[in-house]
Amino acid sequence: MDSTVEAPRDVIPAQLLKGQKALVTGANSGIGLATAIGLGRAGADVAVNYVADRDAADRVVEEIAAHGVRAAAYEADVSKEDQVTAMMDRMVQEFGTIDILVANAGLQRDAGFTEMTLAQWQKVLDVNLTGQFLCAREATKEFRRRGVVPEVSRAAGKIICMSSVHQLIPWSGHVNYASSKGGVQMMMETLAQELAPEKIRVNAVAPGAIRTPINRSAWDTPEAREDLLRLIPYNRIGDPEDIAHAVVGLASDLMDYVVGTTLYVDGGMTLFPGFATGG
Ligand code: BGC
Repeated sequence: MDSTVEAPRDVIPAQLLKGQKALVTGANSGIGLATAIGLGRAGADVAVNYVADRDAADRVVEEIAAHGVRAAAYEADVSKEDQVTAMMDRMVQEFGTIDILVANAGLQRDAGFTEMTLAQWQKVLDVNLTGQFLCAREATKEFRRRGVVPEVSRAAGKIICMSSVHQLIPWSGHVNYASSKGGVQMMMETLAQELAPEKIRVNAVAPGAIRTPINRSAWDTPEAREDLLRLIPYNRIGDPEDIAHAVVGLASDLMDYVVGTTLYVDGGMTLFPGFATGG
């Protein structure tokens, strides 16, 4: 059985990110939503990016603002260069700067290999990989312009790329998604190497199966849940807050010496659980 104990929401130290400005892409649902709220709980001011469903973004903004920090909703399609540059300009204008980018926006367009259309391939690469590239590039320009402000953070900026266990685990029927996340890993590591001398820290979080709308079919029937839990040694499906906690930690100076690392937050999914009884 999947344990149903509610995820703790009050474990985040309230001053950990005080005075920092964060942008979370795709923050109106799922992992992005929980992460934006987690950053707000940690004392950061948060820009909530969304591409559709303004109402949902507004609700996230309200919940963040209830923690006494600043929040705003910014519409932008992260795969469109002009929209990303406009969003970053607005962030700098309204928040003063950016300290933390969580490049989270992502989607799936699943199909067997020969049924997969070029449009499905392209859409996933555009949002999941090119979107992270564009947001990281624009954030880096601002980190570089501003440099380190010691009262705020030891780093000039932090980029956290939302990857997936599928940067490592091949995934039949999802070649576009798995390829995009493999790309995210190499992009993240290359940027980490390139930007570390400027005190810009680039890292990734690789979630396993987290209960969100993207994978509803994998957990919303008892049979599907049972199949899924067989892949998770820790025997529970992840909560979006599990990812939020990892992001808040990585973004903070507690992890200032962590550079170019992928933190797997997956209940052991990447431990080859099939080998627990075989091999
Ligand atoms: C995917 C989910 C999937 C999980 C584990 C994630 O990256 O978006 O659909 O359940 O990986 O396979």
